[in-house]
Amino acid sequence: MGFYREKILPHILHHGMAAERHARFRKETVLTARGSVLEIGFGSGLNLKYYSDAVTTVTGIETNPGMRKYAVKLAHEYEFPVHLLDMDAQRLGFDNGEFDTVVSTWTMCSILDLDRALDEAKRVLKPGGKLLFIEHGLAPDLNVQKWQHRLTWFSRRIFDGCHANRKISDYVARAGFELTKLDTFYAPDMPKSGGYMYQGSARKI
Ligand SMILES: C[S@@+](CC[C@H](N)C(=O)[O-])C[C@H]1O[C@@H](n2cnc3c(N)ncnc32)[C@H](O)[C@@H]1O
Repeated sequence: MGFYREKILPHILHHGMAAERHARFRKETVLTARGSVLEIGFGSGLNLKYYSDAVTTVTGIETNPGMRKYAVKLAHEYEFPVHLLDMDAQRLGFDNGEFDTVVSTWTMCSILDLDRALDEAKRVLKPGGKLLFIEHGLAPDLNVQKWQHRLTWFSRRIFDGCHANRKISDYVARAGFELTKLDTFYAPDMPKSGGYMYQGSARKI
């Protein structure tokens, strides 16, 4: 599993996540990021090019060293400092209120204890700070849900813990964030079982 997870999966994820069809969603999601940004599940750093001048630093945390190898190559290309850390989103090694913005793009599906990770994200945000996200998750159609529940058995094994059947907005609300914006939709050019998106922002109150 170590070889697959650290050598093969990063290659698959980096190329899959770099697909042009995701670019618009990345851009829209991080548009309002500002100040000190924490990205959970930083992957290969594909959001970096979409941050605006309002961002002062980006701290990317990641548990897969194979993904960080890709990210390291990009980290020096930007005006703002980029800090890459080997850290689990479920146990953040930061003080309370350190960040202005937390970003998560297609990461919440694969964090084992997502409730805990969102509690942590909230803890490290400043009061009024924002959580910005785009995630795939549970679709409203029962027929699609049926496939999502079945697929999750495979996707957890093949994509390192990825659940296709999480109702992301419920997790965010349960963590005590105020959901300030939420769009849900089937992304074009994707199978419905993996392409139902939750895109939005939430505020630490
Ligand atoms: C599908 S990839 C998305 C990567 C990136 N956010 C993007 O948009 O391209 C999910 C990433 O989350 C990372 N991840 C999963 N669980 C994590 C955790 N508990 N803490 C930090 N990163 C995690 C995985 O290693 C993987 O790189």
